[in-house]
Amino acid sequence: MNISTEVRRSYELRPYPVVGKRIWNQPRWRLPPPKWIEAMWQRVRVPERILVAGCGTGMEAFAIARRFKHSEVVGVDFSPRSIAIARHLQKRQAGLRHVRFVVGDITTRHLVNTVGNDFDLISCHGVLSYIPQTRRAFDNFARCLTPHGALYLGVNGVRHFSATWRPALAKLGFQLAEFEDGKELRQALRLCEALDSHNAPRIANRGAEYLAGDLFGPLIHNWPLARWMSLAQSAGLHFLGSYYAHRALRPIFKDDLYRQLLPRSRAETHMFVELLSPSRFHSLLFVTQPRPNPPWQNASALLRWRARSTDLYTCRWPKRRRLWRKLRRVQLKSVSTNTVVDLSVPEWELEILRQADGKQTLEQLLAGLGKRVPANVVRDRVYSHYLLVSVNLVSAD
Ligand SMILES: C[S@@+](CC[C@H](N)C(=O)[O-])C[C@H]1O[C@@H](n2cnc3c(N)ncnc32)[C@H](O)[C@@H]1O
Repeated sequence: MNISTEVRRSYELRPYPVVGKRIWNQPRWRLPPPKWIEAMWQRVRVPERILVAGCGTGMEAFAIARRFKHSEVVGVDFSPRSIAIARHLQKRQAGLRHVRFVVGDITTRHLVNTVGNDFDLISCHGVLSYIPQTRRAFDNFARCLTPHGALYLGVNGVRHFSATWRPALAKLGFQLAEFEDGKELRQALRLCEALDSHNAPRIANRGAEYLAGDLFGPLIHNWPLARWMSLAQSAGLHFLGSYYAHRALRPIFKDDLYRQLLPRSRAETHMFVELLSPSRFHSLLFVTQPRPNPPWQNASALLRWRARSTDLYTCRWPKRRRLWRKLRRVQLKSVSTNTVVDLSVPEWELEILRQADGKQTLEQLLAGLGKRVPANVVRDRVYSHYLLVSVNLVSAD
């Protein structure tokens, strides 16, 4: 039996995620917040068509459909039993008529015929780490996306617990290709948990459907960011960023540490994070069109770029004062990413943030203040907002 057939058989036996009351209300997995995706992607219009590739029993597609109520959502999975459960669950709930489930293999050339193309967004979470023909899936995704489309990919990283637990279980005499539950196995899992000094999430008591796919099975790719990126790149997709790295960057805004990362793009800083703090699980964003990196090394050229605030944060703006160099305290809050950033910023910077609607260049915004601020100082402060994803920069050309 080839690996693909084995994987399908395993999900036919134990569709994922299992549908119980608790999981239904509170799925264990988390997609990166759509607000983060939207801010990074810089798409102005709501996506018209969304593909959920490897949708399992439908939770991911439902979560996405609730967020994008006016988009057409297509869920595809090669397990007919999972799709049957997804359709059944869809019927039991209101407000999900814009979702369609189909049986199909994301690695076959016929995928486009099965699901159609022209997808603005593809979401593929917890699928590609377990399949042999990852390259074919990437090629299909690139074929199915519109020219301004984006791919969200949730895949295992080098620190995924299965990277160390699989060899440990093999040493204890367990067969990894096939999951067989039992008392012995559960004790072995407790042993792994007790000895795992890297804080593996508590998994010894997790359900069979989770362990069968995330720990057992014929193969698991626990790859570094660079490897996932290179696969996507070979299919013509461009890396925008990693949600894990985005969150890991949060401490660097204290003490102005972010300056050390200049002139790197967001994608490059996220790759830098992976060097120091490899991810357990990557939540990655790719796009079909490359994004030019703002000219961080040339502060005067940067001033000719337009700045646009994103919706990722909310901020209660202090009352305007025209003392441009006076420091003001502000708090950027992002409920969706569970982030609060306390800033002490000069009034001129606040004014740029208030007015950054993507229409005016930084130069024009500064001219409106009637105050000269050195280009390097502006560049450094705008860079911090760019890394926070509170502001995007758009070339004026
Ligand atoms: C771990 S589940 C993830 C389900 C869903 N994405 C989620 O996060 O809830 C992986 C799913 O991918 C599906 N899958 C694996 N290989 C596939 C392939 N080549 N084509 C379509 N679906 C596939 C499996 O059937 C299974 O339902």
